[in-house]
Amino acid sequence: MSVAIYPGSFDPLTNGHVDIIERGARLFDRIIVAMLINMDKSPLFTLPERVEITREVFHDSANVEVDTFDGLLVDYVERRRAHVIVRGLRAVSDFEFEFQMALMNQRLSPRIETVFMMPAEQYTYISSRLIKEVFSLGGRVHGLVPELVETRLREKVLATKGA
Ligand SMILES: Nc1ncnc2c1ncn2[C@@H]1O[C@H](COP(=O)(O)OP(=O)(O)OP(=O)(O)O)[C@@H](O)[C@H]1O
Ligand SMILES: [Mg+2]
Repeated sequence: MSVAIYPGSFDPLTNGHVDIIERGARLFDRIIVAMLINMDKSPLFTLPERVEITREVFHDSANVEVDTFDGLLVDYVERRRAHVIVRGLRAVSDFEFEFQMALMNQRLSPRIETVFMMPAEQYTYISSRLIKEVFSLGGRVHGLVPELVETRLREKVLATKGA
């Protein structure tokens, strides 16, 4: 069975992520969306919120799993008996960092392959950071994130304003 791990922070899940997950689900028997437990950046959505949103969005996809991990990614990949790390490439700007990570992971665990996938063209400029920035300034993010994420973003902003 081919199992792939798609690691990231998904704060929040965007349609770019969704696109990559759907491609992965077609390519591999199972794709595990793995959310990093200890991020440097302080997240807008808590880890349980991010997990719940992604599970809900992929409710009907039997071979998409959502999990969390801590520590070295390659250790987690081994623990899950996976052989592939999936990463998305948006633009040249992603390349240098991704290249370094892939080679470092290859050195740490030669058995694991990193597979890069391109999203559909209309998603190539979307990042979670940009979504948060635009939304917090009152811009429209419709069509760029799942509807559930739009709803949760609205709730977050209301909660912050109420506080
Ligand atoms: N729009 C997109 N198209 C394709 N791949 C993407 C897209 N957005 C993110 N990815 C990829 O998804 C993986 C997880 O990314 P991550 O959770 O850091 O999302 P992000 O949008 O880059 O968030 P942030 O803006 O907080 O860095 C990475 O491999 C990243 O390159
Ligand atoms: Mg990123």
